Amino acid sequence: MSSPVIFPFKSNIDLDKNSSRHLYLQLCDQLIGFIKSGKLAPSTKLPGSRKLSEDLKIHRKTVIAAYDELISQGWIESIPAKGTFVNHNLPIINPKKLANSNKPVSSKNISGFDFKKRKNLFIKGIETIQASLKVDEGVPDHRLAPIEDIARNYRNITNKKHYQELLTYGDTHGNFDLRKALVSYLNKTRGLKITTDNILITRGSQMGIYLASELLLDDQKIIVTGNTNYMTADNTFIEANGIIKQVSVDQHGINTMEIEKICKKNKISAVYVTSHHHHPTTVTLSAERRMHLLNLAQENNFAIIEDDYDYDFHYRNAPILPLASNDTKGNVIYIGGFTKIIAPALRIGYFIAAKDVIDEAARLRRIIDRQGDTLLEQTLARMIINGDVQRHSNKVRKIYKERRDLFCGLLREKLVDFFDFETPNGGMAVWVRLKQPYNWDVVMAEALKLNVAFNPEWRRYDNNNLGHNGIRIGFAALNKEEIITVINTLETVMKSIR
Ligand SMILES: Cc1ncc(COP(=O)(O)O)c(C=O)c1O
Repeated sequence: MSSPVIFPFKSNIDLDKNSSRHLYLQLCDQLIGFIKSGKLAPSTKLPGSRKLSEDLKIHRKTVIAAYDELISQGWIESIPAKGTFVNHNLPIINPKKLANSNKPVSSKNISGFDFKKRKNLFIKGIETIQASLKVDEGVPDHRLAPIEDIARNYRNITNKKHYQELLTYGDTHGNFDLRKALVSYLNKTRGLKITTDNILITRGSQMGIYLASELLLDDQKIIVTGNTNYMTADNTFIEANGIIKQVSVDQHGINTMEIEKICKKNKISAVYVTSHHHHPTTVTLSAERRMHLLNLAQENNFAIIEDDYDYDFHYRNAPILPLASNDTKGNVIYIGGFTKIIAPALRIGYFIAAKDVIDEAARLRRIIDRQGDTLLEQTLARMIINGDVQRHSNKVRKIYKERRDLFCGLLREKLVDFFDFETPNGGMAVWVRLKQPYNWDVVMAEALKLNVAFNPEWRRYDNNNLGHNGIRIGFAALNKEEIITVINTLETVMKSIR
């Protein structure tokens, strides 16, 4: 244990006396770097503290502090009467292999191990596109989020000592006060008949879709969806190892007669439905088909995953009650949340089902996410009870209705020669089909030149190549000026490619 000190410490160590990082820690960092890169091998003798302090022109105490720190971290060791050495137990590193490895870890692009890559999940999101105006597929306007109400309610909770218990681990099913508040909120607004045993709080609707898929779709089990369908849900079903069978969607929603036909030939495990406003086409599932679907589920013992993602936004009349309100035999898993009413970043949703399903879903959720954000859940419970949520929902519904009317009015006035669409009864988007012979890829490329971006993954909605040429254009997150810009841009583009 006495390799000679041949490493040129003096010329390799560069300490910055003006840095806010203490000198002894800078020295530690650099010595650790030499050890990690193999430049200082195990058992290498380090210079004595007097010599190193003279070479580096720093106080000897600084070197001693650095050596003490490195000894306590196990990088070096001090051997009485012999000196200070790089720890002999460290693995030997070949410095040649690491010749270029002084780059920080974060600059690595490729991992040093294999892992499962899911091609299906590789989606080019609009977030990655540079444009001054991005037109989404129908999300709420986060600029309208009731941030002051959230902050006030949150502060009131964190100021109270008895809420301190919320800071420890809690029930995976979710904050009990929120579940209680949701029982009365959902029973009143959705006509459900549930108790707190029927609720699992999730991080948003997507977690509910994921949990339902994992519970229902093992081993090539069949799930029926509409053609076309919410892309992320389809991806979730495929990842859960399910087989998707598609049925057509018309102005009355998904075709339940086709589901009945499938049932005669195959055992199906689930039907996924966005009954209030079908995603992406926005149509509402008719009363007749609702009853038909529920009867089929009961007769054939399958689950209905009812994703009621935009229940609160219906503009023509009162919202249609969900299938779950007529579910007497526990066939429906009802999924919804507050990401659309309040803001996408407020990750609180609910998963409503029979107790046995809830308990199993909670066990599954526990291994992905031990529990939700209890303080935020308590805040939301308070906002439901004191009426903040309902007030905000009424306010934004009015604004979104005005935006829908403006958007659809201008589209009809200026672009009817190029597009087919129906004014949606609710939701946050319009399903806009481009007439032949135009193509969205061309339109989008031209619009981008004018700094307006649309969803680049629109083709994924046409997974059976039906040629519907449709995209969802979200109006809810666009204010008046932005809606006018979008329409004017489309008008300029269409006239230029005509
Ligand atoms: C049909 C549908 N379901 C579920 C979700 C996911 O919502 P959340 O943000 O609550 O997870 C979305 C999001 O846009 C959606 O459009």
